[in-house]
Amino acid sequence: MKLRKVAAEEPFVLAAMASLLGALLWLNLRPRLLLQFFYSAEMLALTHLVTLGFASSLVQGLSQRLVPQLLSVARPTPRAAWGHCVAWLLGASGIVFHFAVEGFVGMAWATLLTLAAVLWFCRNFAGVWRAARGGDPVARWVAASCCHFALVAALGASYAALRVWGIGAAWLGAPLLDRLGAHLHLGLVGWIGGAIFGWQLKFLPGTRASERVERWRFWTVQLGLLLLIAALIGGAPTLRAGALLVAAGLAARSVPALASWRRNAPGRVEIAAHALLLLLAVVGVGLAFDWPAADAPLRYPLELAYGYVGLLGWVVLTVIGTSWKLFSAWVWEERFLPERGLKPTPRASDLPSAWLRDGSALAVVAGLALTVAAILRSADGSAPLVLLRCGLALHLLGVLLFAAQFLRIARWELLKLDWHPPR
Ligand code: HEM
Repeated sequence: MKLRKVAAEEPFVLAAMASLLGALLWLNLRPRLLLQFFYSAEMLALTHLVTLGFASSLVQGLSQRLVPQLLSVARPTPRAAWGHCVAWLLGASGIVFHFAVEGFVGMAWATLLTLAAVLWFCRNFAGVWRAARGGDPVARWVAASCCHFALVAALGASYAALRVWGIGAAWLGAPLLDRLGAHLHLGLVGWIGGAIFGWQLKFLPGTRASERVERWRFWTVQLGLLLLIAALIGGAPTLRAGALLVAAGLAARSVPALASWRRNAPGRVEIAAHALLLLLAVVGVGLAFDWPAADAPLRYPLELAYGYVGLLGWVVLTVIGTSWKLFSAWVWEERFLPERGLKPTPRASDLPSAWLRDGSALAVVAGLALTVAAILRSADGSAPLVLLRCGLALHLLGVLLFAAQFLRIARWELLKLDWHPPR
């Protein structure tokens, strides 16, 4: 049987792996970035290496296969898929590079190219809207996440236009950290989170509830995000209500997922990611309620730790917990399905290693704990570099083990090795 290859999937996935490794290496070489105020050109470059290079590339790469397969949406033509992919890789790498060298005019042009790539992605999968209108709860999350992706890119491009050309000062007058907070939450909860929440309904059955409850969870998070953004960008008095609603919507999914811990041994890494998400929700509500107060020494370190755990903790752990199932099923399908019945073939579940999955997750969690402890301790003026270096090294180790798992699975496709049944 000849399977039709999914266009433009591999460059996204490879870019995501390279960006995650690159970001952890960068942090290990420059740990002091986490002990100072977080708004700097270098941190902006590093942040977007993670958010665009890793998380957004991975979600777009996985969408190339998941959206047509699981939501019965037509695949984009190879030309449309490759056009979007090239525009994205050029735009996203342009943002990271120009932030790193402080070339802000180039950065602003790169945000426009990235915005165009995001709109192209939404256009390629416009069929998701029909599936969402038909009542499919997965499609509902995925369609909303595409909207948030377009919004976050539009906000990013307007921030760049404001910074470089002074355009938009009249309506982007909110304080800098509020504007950045709006952009972060739209990206992390609306776009990346929306995609994760949607696909998890398929891959982590413990998170799925009745249609009525699903609808409630979905609209609670969306309304909460809307109130949050209205407060952070428009100065509306809705910050606390928004934070409480988002936290309630997330908790309504994560608490039942945690309850399935005993029954679902292979899903434990994903479940641990839900525990992190709950912790983030609690801290997010605390920040919205001015704990700690805006002028307290702990405030900025806590905000930095919050963003760090969101981007490099929750997202990474979710990916470690989910990708081994997806990658092994896809590699098996492409490599071994055509050989089935002609020669001995493994099962898809033989391709990944449970040891690598659990080992990488443990190292990431231990690394996160030490790194966050070091960031928070910097609030009292100390610079706990040894603690921070140990945390970042462990975090890198976890990501290296994850990369080893990825290569372990991908070698069957990349190297076309012969499989021999174990004796
Ligand atoms: C997943 C999506 C995204 C997330 C989570 C995200 C997150 C962030 C964060 C946390 C910051 C502040 C970083 C710091 O203070 O060190 C930031 C700033 C910025 N982001 Fe993004 N970002 C995302 C996507 C984008 C996109 C698609 C663009 C461009 C099209 C963009 C353009 C910018 C710009 C220009 C700034 C600087 C704003 C300023 O200095 O006023 N971001 N982003």
